[in-house]
Amino acid sequence: MKTIFSGIQPSGTITLGNYIGAMKQFVELQDEYNCFFCIVDQHAITVPQDPVSLRQNIRSLAALYLAIGINPEKATLFIQSEVPAHAQAGWIMQCIAYIGELERMTQFKDKSQGKEAVSASLLTYPPLMAADILLYHTDLVPVGEDQKQHMELTRDLAERFNKKYGEVFTIPDIRLPKAGARIMSLQEPTKKMSKSDPNKKSVITPLDEPKQIEKKIKSAVTDSEGIVKFDVANKPGISNLLSIYSVLSNKSIQELEEMYQGKGYGAFKSDLAEVVIHEFKPIQEKYYHLMESSELDDILNRGAEKANQVASSTLKEMEHAMGLGRSRK
Ligand code: TYM
Repeated sequence: MKTIFSGIQPSGTITLGNYIGAMKQFVELQDEYNCFFCIVDQHAITVPQDPVSLRQNIRSLAALYLAIGINPEKATLFIQSEVPAHAQAGWIMQCIAYIGELERMTQFKDKSQGKEAVSASLLTYPPLMAADILLYHTDLVPVGEDQKQHMELTRDLAERFNKKYGEVFTIPDIRLPKAGARIMSLQEPTKKMSKSDPNKKSVITPLDEPKQIEKKIKSAVTDSEGIVKFDVANKPGISNLLSIYSVLSNKSIQELEEMYQGKGYGAFKSDLAEVVIHEFKPIQEKYYHLMESSELDDILNRGAEKANQVASSTLKEMEHAMGLGRSRK
C-alpha cells in the first residue's frame, strides 16, 4: 500500500476551502492508501496564537477530521507536537535548505509583508513541512493549490538530501483535487478563502449555523450581469460559487449553467445555500458528539503512538546517514 501524508493548521476553524481542497480528498483516499493525517500545531505557532484558543482549535480540528469521515481504523490521526521527530527532522531539513529559496516562497512573502517583526519560523516553515512529509516515506500529498510551491521545495530538499547522504527519502508527489483546488473568498473572489481572514463574511466553516450559511452566500459578491456562467477572468464571484456548487452536488458546471439559465442569482444562491447546509448537517451532529466524548483522546493517543514509531525510525535513518551522534547499527 502506498503512503499518504497531509496536514492542516489548527489556526482557526477550518473553511469550506480546506474542506473542498483537502479534506474531501482525504476521505476518498483512506481506503486505498496508508494514510497519516496531522494537526500541524507547530506550524500554527509561526504566527502568534492565544494558548487557550490554540488548544481548543487543536481538539476541534481533531473532531472535525473524524466528523467529516476519517476512519481511525484505517487512517492515523495525530498531533504534530506529540511526535518529537517532526521538530528534530525539521531542524535537519533547515540545514539542507538555502535561505534564498525560502525567501522566494510566496506564502512567506505574503505573511511577512508590511510586518515590523517577522518570526524566523515563518521563513523556516517549509523545511518543517518537508520533514512532516518525508518522515513517513510519503508517496502522495493531497493538498490545495496554495501548497504547490511548498511541495516543489519538499521534493527539491528530498532530492538534495538523497544525493548527498544516500537514498533515505521517497520523493513525494502532490495530489490536487480535480475541482475546487482553490476556493475563493466570498467577499473578494480574487483572493483565496482563508481561515485567518478577519472578515468572517468571506468564509464559510463546516460549523456555521444554517442561517449564517444562507446569509453569507446571499451576500457573496458577484456581478451585475445576472447570468450564471463560469468565467473566472470576468466573473470571479459567480465562478467561485459554481465551483463550490459543482463539487458539493456532483453536478458538472455545464449542467448547473443550464439549470440556472434565465433564472438570475437569487434562485442560484438559495439553492447553493441548501446544498452547503445539507453537506454540513451530518458533520455538525457528529462533531458535537465527538467533542464531548473520551473517544477523541483515545484515537489521538493511538495515532501519536503509531506516528512516533514510523517517524522516529526515519529520523534515525536520517541522523545515521548524516553522521550525527554515535555509530548505530
Ligand atoms: P492550511 O492549514 O493552510 O490548509 C489546509 C489544507 O487546505 C487547503 N486549502 C485550500 N484548498 C482550496 N481552497 C482554499 N481556499 C484553501 N485554503 C486552504 C490547503 O492547500 C491545505 O491542503 N502548510 C500547510 C499545512 C501543512 C502540510 C504539511 C500540508 C504542514 N505540513 C504536510 C501537507 C503536508 C497549510 O498551511 O495548510
